Amino acid sequence: MSNPYVPTPARIVDVAVETEDRQLRSYWLERLDPDDAPEFNYMPGQFAELSLAGHGEIPIGIASSPTEGRNLLFTVNRTGRVTTALHNMQAGDVMGVRGPLGRPYPLEENRGRNVVIVAGGFAVTTLRATMNWLLSPEHRKDYGRIDFIYGARTPGMLLYRRELDRWARFGDDVHCHVTVDREAEGWDGLVGFVPNVVGQVAPSPDNSIALVCGPPVMIRFTQPVFDSLGWTADRIFLSLENRMKCGIGICGRCNVGPYYVCKDGPVFTKAELDRLPPDY
Ligand SMILES: Cc1cc2nc3c(=O)[nH]c(=O)nc-3n(C[C@H](O)[C@H](O)[C@H](O)COP(=O)(O)OP(=O)(O)OC[C@H]3O[C@@H](n4cnc5c(N)ncnc54)[C@H](O)[C@@H]3O)c2cc1C
Ligand code: FES
Repeated sequence: MSNPYVPTPARIVDVAVETEDRQLRSYWLERLDPDDAPEFNYMPGQFAELSLAGHGEIPIGIASSPTEGRNLLFTVNRTGRVTTALHNMQAGDVMGVRGPLGRPYPLEENRGRNVVIVAGGFAVTTLRATMNWLLSPEHRKDYGRIDFIYGARTPGMLLYRRELDRWARFGDDVHCHVTVDREAEGWDGLVGFVPNVVGQVAPSPDNSIALVCGPPVMIRFTQPVFDSLGWTADRIFLSLENRMKCGIGICGRCNVGPYYVCKDGPVFTKAELDRLPPDY
């Protein structure tokens, strides 16, 4: 069995600046796959540990879908030491990738259901993966109506603009509701906070699941809307971003209540989170 702490090398093949403040960049990585590197079989919602020699290792959600081919997409917000070092990397540079890690969104288990996706800010990354997985020719027929609700502060802070356009034109019972916090020049889409848009869209809980990822304030105000629409906590799935180290359930860094977020999550049902201490 291969050592779970050892990363395998991956080369940056493309870099894109995503947002107007230039703090978010997307990286397509090609795994160099020496003969001893294991296959990277993953599902939307999982993450990987990216390691930069001399800087450290960080958990980042996988923003690509396995239906998009072998290369992997990561979108990185520059916040501190390692993410700044990553922002200084260019196409052709090599980093380490360890994974895939964690529990994904429960897509396989919920075939036949409608899917409501709620995303805020740059937490949309693994939900991009989810959309591309659901809309791929091999999976679209297995799910019902899809509602994608996504908000950012300003139009310039929306990630994946080309994909948003593609999903908006997709048809086939796929409904995109993209919103910004306040009116902006050149923006003719929705205006308002994500919880309000969830209330306007009013997704039915019948035969549906909701996948939610965003800042805590968005989650706090979205939950009562789901409650008022009759959603139960076992059909709502949230992804956490606790601090981590090993990523494989050994070091205890990410422990909350009975769970290791890295191994038992990062995706949890709302019902599971309701049983945790309030400060998770
Ligand atoms: C499962 C998972 C998925 C993630 N996916 C993404 C992703 O797709 N894109 C992305 O940009 N980031 C993601 N993150 C967060 C990312 O791991 C941290 O931003 C990163 O580790 C910061 O490293 P740094 O060395 O640059 O920052 P540091 O120098 O360690 O810290 C800089 C600042 O960032 C804060 N910070 C550090 N770690 C976290 C964290 N885990 N959550 C919140 N704040 C933190 C610190 O408090 C400090 O204020 C994810 C985290 C987890 C656990
Ligand atoms: S990060 Fe080590 S146990 Fe979760």
